[in-house]
Amino acid sequence: MTDHQDLRSLINPEKLPQHVAIIMDGNGRWAKKRGHNRIFGHEHGVEAVRQTAEAAAELGIRFITLYAFSTENWNRPKEEVEALMRLLVMTIHGEIKTLNDNNIRLRAIGDLNSMSAEVLAQLNDAIEQTSHNTRMDLVLALSYSGRWEIADALKKIAIQIRNGSVQPDEVDEKLISAHMCAPDIPEPELMIRTSGEYRISNYYLWQLAYSELYFTNILWPDFRKKDLYKAIIDFQKRERRFGQTSEQLTNDIE
Ligand code: FPP
Repeated sequence: MTDHQDLRSLINPEKLPQHVAIIMDGNGRWAKKRGHNRIFGHEHGVEAVRQTAEAAAELGIRFITLYAFSTENWNRPKEEVEALMRLLVMTIHGEIKTLNDNNIRLRAIGDLNSMSAEVLAQLNDAIEQTSHNTRMDLVLALSYSGRWEIADALKKIAIQIRNGSVQPDEVDEKLISAHMCAPDIPEPELMIRTSGEYRISNYYLWQLAYSELYFTNILWPDFRKKDLYKAIIDFQKRERRFGQTSEQLTNDIE
């Protein structure tokens, strides 16, 4: 058996996270180490996206969200932003057949209207063409940030308060959750960040409240199936307490 099959066999299929969120970090450093520009790193990040999506679908994970472009990424040099957008569109469009062959539905969260009309049209086309798929949802966070999402949810609620359909004392966690970008998607049980940075960087701020966080030094273009397996094996060893004590959890099971 190969190393990666060995690792896969250590995963308990009964205790899989339903939703894994990933911060794909380190493309720039990966490219720099090889004497190339940052865009070269992003291009090589695409293979890691493919491998990760395939591994997650094979395992039976229901949702993965990839942080592909943050609100803050708009501040990068113009050439890099344009190259990234082109890469995203080309990749997304080029993968429609593979997504359909594998029964994977593409979705996107974020301030999508801030993207160019061309990118948005291609994105919406891929979303539409894969909308019937049911095995796994591959969610791209694009022009996304957690604070933007919370502000956007509060804006929608404020409008309802103004028109009288919601009373201020009805605003609770459940109502706020219901106004997030994709309220049907369960909160990620596991968040993975590559490249040895220990930050959340404005990702899923609301939804990560109880998530297990996993950090690896691997740079994103080097991330492969075995690295996802390692993260899940680590996750499965942890005890998720949601603020309760170990004893309470044991009593709940008994
Ligand atoms: C972070 O690395 C990565 C990004 C901002 C972009 C991620 C995009 C891809 C992997 C392209 C393909 C994606 C899809 C979904 C088709 P960084 O540039 O911050 O790296 P650094 O921290 O080393 O500078």
